[in-house]
Amino acid sequence: MTDRFQAKDGREIVIREACPGDVPGIAELWKQLMDWLRQYDSRYGRTPDGHKIFAAIIADCIEKENSAVFVAETDERIVGYCICHLGSFPPWTVLAGKKNGSISDMAVAKDCRQKGIGHNLFRAAKEWFTARGACRIDVDGISTGNSATASFWRKMGLRQVSEGLAIEVGDLPSEH
Ligand SMILES: CC(C)(COP(=O)(O)OP(=O)(O)OC[C@H]1O[C@@H](n2cnc3c(N)ncnc32)[C@H](O)[C@@H]1OP(=O)(O)O)[C@@H](O)C(=O)NCCC(=O)NCCS
Repeated sequence: MTDRFQAKDGREIVIREACPGDVPGIAELWKQLMDWLRQYDSRYGRTPDGHKIFAAIIADCIEKENSAVFVAETDERIVGYCICHLGSFPPWTVLAGKKNGSISDMAVAKDCRQKGIGHNLFRAAKEWFTARGACRIDVDGISTGNSATASFWRKMGLRQVSEGLAIEVGDLPSEH
């Protein structure tokens, strides 16, 4: 699948499924994403090799049938990505539910945000899930206080279905 659209600043953006050659560009964006998320949750501190390990995880998601990685590209640069997983709820087939989709990661490069790229990445993800029989798409773990991301997902039509609670215990991870 390949889609093209014109971003709000006039740039032509290509939305397509990722190939192995995209992995370094996605890993770079992942670093930006983790560093940005750390302002809301200190657990997002990266290890020196974290992006290399994450690169191997993305390569795996590109290969596997029950996952997909979509990228946004402009001028041969990866400016956004979205990782999709197809599973069942719960993970064991003991309930009658249909397939369940989840998005574990999504990021748009800082200089490309609010131009429609996130919306178009989500549209591609939604089509992929729907074509595979998913009846729901979950996005978990949006930190309280991250109102920009929450606004984005609400604009995409997602609604709050559960409430997560947590308590911090012990020492927080140190930054690298
Ligand atoms: C969340 C994110 C992926 C959105 O991507 P984007 O390309 O900026 O989003 P779009 O331009 O397609 O925005 C679509 C709609 O979302 C809403 N939205 C996007 N960014 C917003 C912001 N900062 N504040 C409020 N609403 C916002 C708007 O309603 C927008 O619609 P509009 O253009 O008609 O105003 C991007 O901001 C990002 O990478 N954030 C940091 C990483 C992150 O939080 N990822 C999600 C973790 S799962």
